[in-house]
Amino acid sequence: MLLTNARIATFATSDRYGLIEEGAVALEEGSIAWVGPLEELPKRYRSNNAEDLGGRLVTPGLIDCHSHIVFGGHRAAEFELRLEGASYEEIARAGGGIGSTVGATRVATDADLLAGALTRADALIAEGVTTLEIKSGYGLDTETELRMLRVAREVGRIRNLTVKTSFLGAHAVPLEYSGRADAYIDEAVIPTLRAGHEEGLLDAVDGFCEGIAFDPAQMARVFDAATSLGLPVKLHAEQLSHLGGTKLAAEYGALSADHVEYATENDVIALARAGSAAVLLPGAYYTLRETQMPPIAAFRSHNVPMAVATDCNPGSSPLASLLLAMNMACTLFRLTPEEALAGATVNAARALGLTNRGMLRSGACADLAVWDVETPAELAYRIGFNPLHRRICGGEG
Ligand code: NIG
Ligand code: FE
Repeated sequence: MLLTNARIATFATSDRYGLIEEGAVALEEGSIAWVGPLEELPKRYRSNNAEDLGGRLVTPGLIDCHSHIVFGGHRAAEFELRLEGASYEEIARAGGGIGSTVGATRVATDADLLAGALTRADALIAEGVTTLEIKSGYGLDTETELRMLRVAREVGRIRNLTVKTSFLGAHAVPLEYSGRADAYIDEAVIPTLRAGHEEGLLDAVDGFCEGIAFDPAQMARVFDAATSLGLPVKLHAEQLSHLGGTKLAAEYGALSADHVEYATENDVIALARAGSAAVLLPGAYYTLRETQMPPIAAFRSHNVPMAVATDCNPGSSPLASLLLAMNMACTLFRLTPEEALAGATVNAARALGLTNRGMLRSGACADLAVWDVETPAELAYRIGFNPLHRRICGGEG
């Protein structure tokens, strides 16, 4: 496949989106064979049936590196409660929040879970997403956690989409372990982690380090188990308060620390040293009407890669639009449109530990999005507008 007459935001160089004017991309067997200015296209890639993109913009396929799209039910009633003045933490402590979705997920059939997840995955796919991370964390027992992970894998088999899974058994303390978080970690989380790994269901291990969830010492035990199996870790850290999760994640060489609104400059330095990414989740910030901004200037000055993701989940971020997450990252966090697009491509790949996508260069996966826009800044600029012209995933589409 040869695409010509395109403006190409490659992200393969660090200046101005790595933009190539009047570019061409040649795809071969699911990979990018060549990308560059049309006039430099090697003879062997020239073809009579090249597709003229009419000057449209080509970017890497979008990558949503933080989502919880597999779950039962919804939490519209909690949305109403928050509008009547209750806080996210109050609702969680009263047995709502994550706990209420756990109840709905445990009673949902696999078919129900899959149907709901596909609806959300399809919304993301329609916006050019080609790689999607999906977490467990609404089962909190071995059976339901593993069911969630199998459903997540199934989404990647049914759709032309790469799915990366994260085990989030340490998301909340389930009712049956109320007041016994340590026992839950030792008796449920770690054995489930081992079982999921044995079944090949886990690409990474995540957790929620927060007053309403687990402290750094508890998370360290989960990370020790993950590390001993060779699984990379990541963490929901410093979302609602400062508990030291970011520093812990860095100590374990985490792929990423996510949310990080309450992270300090020292935390940022720790992430920089560890080579971890920061995953910004403006959908949760917006939904919870958070006012503490993540330390964007420090991420910039210490060269911590910033990814942007939907955090699509039924509670804190019922958002199934990565383009809107990019817009929010600009408007709420003051990212530049270039940083927002890098956050949903090259830096999102980095946050998933993937080196073969997120940028357009020869050898990378043939995951591309073609957009009906003139300039890359337009992708983050409009609100509730989807200019996707064509999505190519693994060379198909
Ligand atoms: O990323 N922070 C913890 N987990 C999710 C929220 C889950 C929920 O409220 O159901 C998040 O915001
Ligand atoms: Fe999350």
